[in-house]
Amino acid sequence: MERTLVLVKPDAVQRGLIGEVIARLERRGLRLVAARFVQVDRKLAERHYAVHKGKPFYDGLIAYITSAPVMAMVWEGPNAIAAVRQTMGSTRPTEAAPGSIRHDFGLTVGRNLTHASDSPQTAQEEVNLWFKPDELITWERDLDRWIFDA
Ligand SMILES: Nc1ncnc2c1ncn2[C@@H]1O[C@H](COP(=O)(O)OP(=O)(O)O)[C@@H](O)[C@H]1O
Ligand SMILES: [Mg+2]
Repeated sequence: MERTLVLVKPDAVQRGLIGEVIARLERRGLRLVAARFVQVDRKLAERHYAVHKGKPFYDGLIAYITSAPVMAMVWEGPNAIAAVRQTMGSTRPTEAAPGSIRHDFGLTVGRNLTHASDSPQTAQEEVNLWFKPDELITWERDLDRWIFDA
């Protein structure tokens, strides 16, 4: 079982797509662990995107992620990290697979709607950055045995 951080970014919040993103992750079979609606401050933005510091798009990225609230969530399931990245689609919407969120709702890399952790290590770091341990809910769903094979 893996856990991964998902952000519905400011453009998707402004466009009324929080429910759409949640619906797709639920329909995929993933299980919600935590959720918080957050106005991101510069400090959190810089910590979250530290790996991109110094890149040409960094300042624009910090402005983007702090421009309106985000819906921060943790989702879990077998292969959750890869599954969620696939549901989001490639970083550039024009390269994202048809049926993915970035394909279906996006046009440009600078307004690509969502964030999802890209590896087990970043998932753990990002979950810890955005949520306190007591905000992560461990629970069982009656459907789990029909979706998870272990
Ligand atoms: N060339 C770019 N121009 C503008 N924004 C970019 C560019 N590359 C990446 N970004 C933004 O930075 C975010 C983080 O980049 P990256 O980690 O490479 O993608 P991902 O969000 O798919 O993991 C992207 O989702 C996108 O919002
Ligand atoms: Mg990334």
